[in-house]
Amino acid sequence: MSSSSSSSAIPALTLISLWLLLPALSQADDTVCIVGAGIGGASVAHFLREYSPSTLNLTIRMFERNGVVGGRMATVNVSGEFFEAGASILHPKNFHAVNYTRLLNLTVNSPSDDSEGFGIWDGEKFIFKTLSVKSKLPFVNRIVSLANSLLLFVRYGYSLVRMDRFVETTVNSFLKYYESLKTRPVFESVDEMLKWAGLHNLTARTLAEELADSGLCPLLIQELVTVITRINYGQNVSMSGLGGAVSLAGSGGGLWSIKGGNWQMASGLIDRSDVALHLHEEIESISSIGDYYELNSTMGNSYTCDVAVVATPLDELNVEFTPSVSIPKRELQHTHATLVRGLLNPVYFGVNSVSELPELVATLEDPDLPFTSISVLKQHAGNDITYKIFSRQPMAEALLDSIFSARTETIRINWAAYPHYTAPEVFAPFILDGQHLYYVNAFENAASTMETSAVAAENVARLILSRYFSGVPVSLDLSSSGSSGGGVHVDL
Ligand SMILES: Cc1cc2nc3c(=O)[nH]c(=O)nc-3n(C[C@H](O)[C@H](O)[C@H](O)COP(=O)(O)OP(=O)(O)OC[C@H]3O[C@@H](n4cnc5c(N)ncnc54)[C@H](O)[C@@H]3O)c2cc1C
Ligand SMILES: *[C@@H]1O[C@H](CO)[C@@H](O)[C@H](O)[C@H]1NC(C)=O
Ligand SMILES: *[C@@H]1O[C@H](CO)[C@@H](O)[C@H](O)[C@H]1NC(C)=O
Ligand SMILES: *[C@@H]1O[C@H](CO)[C@@H](O)[C@H](O)[C@H]1NC(C)=O
Ligand SMILES: *[C@@H]1O[C@H](CO)[C@@H](O)[C@H](O)[C@H]1NC(C)=O
Ligand SMILES: *[C@@H]1O[C@H](CO)[C@@H](O)[C@H](O)[C@H]1NC(C)=O
Ligand SMILES: *[C@@H]1O[C@H](CO)[C@@H](O)[C@H](O)[C@H]1NC(C)=O
Ligand SMILES: *[C@@H]1O[C@H](CO)[C@@H](O)[C@H](O)[C@H]1NC(C)=O
Repeated sequence: MSSSSSSSAIPALTLISLWLLLPALSQADDTVCIVGAGIGGASVAHFLREYSPSTLNLTIRMFERNGVVGGRMATVNVSGEFFEAGASILHPKNFHAVNYTRLLNLTVNSPSDDSEGFGIWDGEKFIFKTLSVKSKLPFVNRIVSLANSLLLFVRYGYSLVRMDRFVETTVNSFLKYYESLKTRPVFESVDEMLKWAGLHNLTARTLAEELADSGLCPLLIQELVTVITRINYGQNVSMSGLGGAVSLAGSGGGLWSIKGGNWQMASGLIDRSDVALHLHEEIESISSIGDYYELNSTMGNSYTCDVAVVATPLDELNVEFTPSVSIPKRELQHTHATLVRGLLNPVYFGVNSVSELPELVATLEDPDLPFTSISVLKQHAGNDITYKIFSRQPMAEALLDSIFSARTETIRINWAAYPHYTAPEVFAPFILDGQHLYYVNAFENAASTMETSAVAAENVARLILSRYFSGVPVSLDLSSSGSSGGGVHVDL
């Protein structure tokens, strides 16, 4: 690929021959290879199609080691019914997801009107519990929800308003990523991207520090905030402020999901983006060979790609890069999701009957507590309920036997779930080799959600188009392709 010095030095003769080659150029079969068929990889494919001229003859190959697409968006079959086992909720302002839903004609599970009971359990007793009333009468639900707000206010006071304000400010900054393409730059690094939206400072300090500075009382930080970061990211308030803010935003009102499973966003985007999808094909090496990449899979196949996109976290993978790439060491937080159909044992919780247990049992940051949360997914009958447990360690059989009085089915999933957030965060590059090898999940150290993956993917698609395909086929003005080694693929 030409550098700026060589492209500005292209003699007139070359330009003329290039011009003669234009038809060939637009027919050249440029291949973008994407590793990973989660929402990130699917979004890269979608935005490449969305933003590139139809005259660009682009082949998109996508590799997925699993037999299904969706990645961390996955449903699990619990005795014949399907429930989200990974990413389950979307925020009302997740505008890419909102658009995908419309574009793909997916049906939304609207936020429920029921006041779900919520309790914080300290290992012996519930230190806080909201009211739970399921009524067909909307006004009853409204009164219960008002009463619950009052209960929260009594315990945490005006700090709750400050917490809301902190979350709202962060969400509003994030909305800048939906600005028009005309005013929104293409970002070459995560740092640059976060600084532009005013979010970078939040990654430099812990959530506890940020919230204390915003005037939240320690009780709120130790209890409610900790409970929420534990449920959403499996970690406590020593995580970064940005990750923390995103997790708090994921506890507010208006949360939604996609009926039948959020994974359908990935499958729908892939279906309509003319992608050559290789399921069950794991990429084990990515080698830069002159001006293309060679991707080898565990099936013994070898693929030639002009552009390669990694759309999965590299932290626990053994992909061999030649030449090697350097990314900061990052730990992933593992979350064990255990789905159980059966009935909780009230004795374990020190109450008299199951009906006294809230629909969401959350726990404080105490190493002696063996789980993070237990929530009701569906009540089939009075004594037949499907639950989801999140924990940092696997749930042992004996432990489940003491927590449940009955179990008809138990399903365990160990997720390499999201980054373990620290402050200050250090970010991997979007452009791994200074050439055309991209890393969507570099952005995951800012925050890990379906929407942040889509936002990062959109930026990577724009990076690819501006750095690799700039000038094709609309313009021959190679010198405008910038200094980053972009320009047309003219080695013809
Ligand atoms: C338990 C849990 C709960 C969550 N809750 C929420 C939530 O409520 N809301 C929310 O927005 N987010 C939530 N998240 C986070 C969300 O799931 C992720 O941020 C998002 O789905 C990441 O998408 P991705 O495409 O970047 O990565 P992934 O979904 O991980 O996709 C990467 C894909 O690449 C494949 N792959 C990996 N290596 C290779 C290889 N070498 N060759 C071929 N294929 C490969 C993987 O199999 C995978 O399918 C949750 C995550 C977990 C685990
Ligand atoms: C696109 O490229 C492929 C493969 O090189 C080729 O078969 C096809 O004819 C091209 N299509 C167009 C419209 O140029
Ligand atoms: C779901 O699991 C049940 C057994 O629990 C099985 O009978 C059924 O076929 C499964 N359904 C699908 C669609 O895989
Ligand atoms: C969603 O789609 C609408 C209509 O196509 C478009 O105007 C808007 O910019 C899209 N939003 C995002 C976040 O892409
Ligand atoms: C969209 O989905 C609805 C309900 O699933 C269906 O009735 C309708 O025909 C679909 N519309 C299109 C354009 O596919
Ligand atoms: C980020 O922090 C720096 C240094 O403390 C400060 O100068 C800057 O104004 C802050 N930026 C934002 C957006 O708050
Ligand atoms: C929070 O988690 C970190 C590890 O991520 C741990 O070092 C710290 O002790 C925990 N904080 C509390 C209050 O337990
Ligand atoms: C990839 O496969 C090709 C063809 O089999 C082989 O020549 C090459 O050495 C392989 N690359 C790596 C890094 O294993």
